[in-house]
Formats: sequence, C-alpha cells, structure tokens
Amino acid sequence: MNVDILPPGPRWPAALQSAVWIFWPWQFMNRARARYGDAFTLRFAGEAPMVMVSDPDVVREVFTGPPELLHAGEANQILLPVVGVNSVLLLDEDAHKAQRRLLMPAFRGSHLQSYVDTITAVARAEIARWPRGEAIRLHPRMQALTLEVILRVVFGLDQGDRLDELRAGLQRTLALTVNPVAAMFLLLVGPQTMRTALTHRLLKNVDRLLYQQIAAQRGADDLDERTDVLSMLLKADHEDGRPMSDNEIRDELMTLLLAGHETTASALAWAVERIIRHPDVQSRLVEESRTDADEYADAVVKETLRLRPVLSFVSRRLKAPMVIGGMSLPAGVAVVPSIYLMHRRSDVYPDPEQFRPERFLHDRAGTYTWLPFGGGVRRCLGATFAEVEMRIVLRELFGGVGIRPAEAKSEPVHRRSITHVPGRGACVIIE
Ligand code: HEM
Repeated sequence: MNVDILPPGPRWPAALQSAVWIFWPWQFMNRARARYGDAFTLRFAGEAPMVMVSDPDVVREVFTGPPELLHAGEANQILLPVVGVNSVLLLDEDAHKAQRRLLMPAFRGSHLQSYVDTITAVARAEIARWPRGEAIRLHPRMQALTLEVILRVVFGLDQGDRLDELRAGLQRTLALTVNPVAAMFLLLVGPQTMRTALTHRLLKNVDRLLYQQIAAQRGADDLDERTDVLSMLLKADHEDGRPMSDNEIRDELMTLLLAGHETTASALAWAVERIIRHPDVQSRLVEESRTDADEYADAVVKETLRLRPVLSFVSRRLKAPMVIGGMSLPAGVAVVPSIYLMHRRSDVYPDPEQFRPERFLHDRAGTYTWLPFGGGVRRCLGATFAEVEMRIVLRELFGGVGIRPAEAKSEPVHRRSITHVPGRGACVIIE
C-alpha cells in the first residue's frame, strides 16, 4: 500500500499513538485536528492506517459511498466468537444486506410503539428498587435496566425461570467482557481457535437457554400476535422464502444484546449526569413529564448523545483505491468519520462544549452532522429503539422522583472497552 499519499498526521511511532489513544482518545483527536485540520492520518500498532475525517461533506461521501468498497464488518471480526458468523455486525455487501433486511421490521418506528408499555413497566420497576437518600452509582443500575429491556423486548422472555437463569448467565458473561484483563485474554491472547473454544465454553449455558427460548417461541400458539424481536425474526423470511435458522437467530440475538445493552446504559447514565447539573433543563423535563409531550425529552436525548457520544468514531475499510474528500486513498486504509470531532464543530454547534438541549428544539439533528449512531447502510439498527427507551426512562425518573448530584463537580469521561462512560459511575442521590 502506498501510504505516502495519505493526509499528514502525528509522526509519533505507532506504539506511542496507540497508548495515547487508549488513555486520552478525545484529547488526541482534538490536538490532531488543531494541528492537521479536518482530515489526518493516525497509525496504531498492528492496524492499517486510519484516515480520520470530520467535515460534513466528506462524511456524507463516506456514508453514501458504495458498500462493496467501504467495508465495516471486517473491523468487528474480533467479536466473532461471541456473536457468531451470521451476525449483521460482521458481514458486508449482499450478506449484510440480507441480514439487515430480516432485522429491520422489528426496529421500524411504527413497530416500536408495541414496546412502549413493556419498557415503561421495566423502567418503573427498576427505579422503584433504587435506594433513596444515599449516594448511588446509577450506571450499573442503568445496565440492569437496559439488560431487562433486552430480555423482555428483544428475547421475548416473560417472568419465569428461563428469564432469571438467562439474566444471571448474561450478567456473568457481560461482566467478563468489560473486565479489561479477562477481555484482553478472550479477545487477544493466544490463537483464534483457542479463544473461540474458551468463549464457547463461557457461553455454553447462555446458548443452551437461548436455543430453548427460540424453540419455545417457534412453537408458541400466540406467535402470530407476538411483537417481540425474537418473534419478528421467527416470522421473517429470506428473499427466497426460507425462514431464519436457529443459528442465525441466536447470532442476531447476541448481536442485539452486545450492540444495544452497554451503549444505551452509558447514554442514559450520561443523560442523568448532565441533566442534574443543569437545573433549568431538569425543571423543564419535570414539567414536560406531567404532560403527554416528549419534544423536550427528545432534545435532551439528542444533546446528550452529541456532547457525550458513547462511541467516538465509526470505521470503513477501503476495498479498492477511492477518492474521498478530494483525497486519493489506497485500498486497505480505514476511513474513519469522527463522531466526537463532528459534534465539537463550532460552525455546526455554537458553543459546542455547552449542554444545551434547546439547540435541537429549533433545528433537526443533521444526517451528516449528528452521528452518535453512525450512518448510511450501517447506521445503528437500534437508533430509534434506543432513543425511545431513553425518553421513557428519563420521563419515569424525572417525573417520579427528585434527583441531585452526589458531588457538584462534573464527572470525567472514562473509557470502558470501546465506550465512554461517566468516571464516577453517574453518582446521584435520589430523594
Ligand atoms: C444509545 C445507544 C446506542 C448507540 C450510541 C449505538 C451506536 C451504534 C453505532 C455507532 C453503530 C455503528 C454504525 C456505523 O458503523 O455507521 C451501531 C451499530 C449497530 N447497532 Fe447500535 N447503538 C445504540 C443502541 C443500539 C440498540 C438498542 C440496538 C438494538 C437493540 C443496537 C443495534 C445495533 C446493530 C444491530 C448495529 C449494526 C448495524 C449494521 O452493521 O448494519 N444499537 N450502533
């Protein structure tokens, strides 16, 4: 690959760039943009060069470019042992399109309405359990809440032993994936076959329960009326009329869990962390929760995801040389729209560091300037689901209880695997 023609970027050795990226990703991106402009090249140990871009026109080119030349699935191969070969996250081109087509109906805006009551009931029950009058970390509680939503709405589980067993099994497994030492062993140390075997052992019980659930639901008398995601997948057909196999369904259920659980929990933790440090925002939200409206909650969700994006970039690997943003880029490099840098552009968002939901009351979130869910044919399938869930939880929380920060100072941004979370766990006192 001729890398001489790539846009300039930090000249540090790749190992040093990797280390700085791991500890200070946002500062690293800020400095690189200040020095090199809207497009620059980062180099990480063992990785192809990454051309990071944050100009809206260039990002539009990336998101609307030909999917056969801009692969996203390859970068996610590390997840293979957990999500399996059929996962929409790992596939590209026609195979990706086919799986996405099967998943889409369950996540359409019109269908999401059928999930509202269950999400509301889960949120209400979880919030009722949270201790009053003492400092508590909300982030782990939001994780429990978003996991419960996935178990009920995505896996279609009702109260009972299988729900309890799956919840416990998944909590154990998910705890391992965010433990940096365990994750490093599972994802990076030793040959792929050994890691795959180890992951399969870890997931054995969870998989057994998932296949049981798939079988039970396949034979359920009320399958036609059921609206949960699993039931929707059981009713979906490939283009040639074949139903989805149990393996395909299992892989997509794990994908949805992995893609939708931690991300939504972190976004909710950030929303609360920001809201309670802005009394005007908090009182407007409380006021709105007494009505049927949710425009302000929607603006709060959008502004939270702008200022504290859970993921700070998305990646597309070039399969052939391409001209993007006037740059001639060789095959093999990754073109990486930076969510973080886009959301900090002062020409798009005046006073970008300010938490000001009102900006989304007057202006719609731009397709190529508001990127928490990525874009194009890979845009997050659960974006509307996540936004609906966040609005419901915020409404239940701020409409139901008084809540204030345990410490006035804002929480620092910490990295947790690939997500960014509140450094003190969103520590609050509920009255
Ligand atoms: C606030 C919460 C969430 C955030 C910030 C988020 C963010 C993202 C991002 C940035 C991508 C990659 C998009 C790209 O490459 O252009 C993605 C993909 C995806 N997300 Fe989400 N997500 C969230 C919640 C969810 C939920 C709740 C679900 C489902 C239950 C979900 C399912 C998926 C799936 C299946 C993909 C892969 C799409 C594909 O490759 O075609 N996400 N998400």
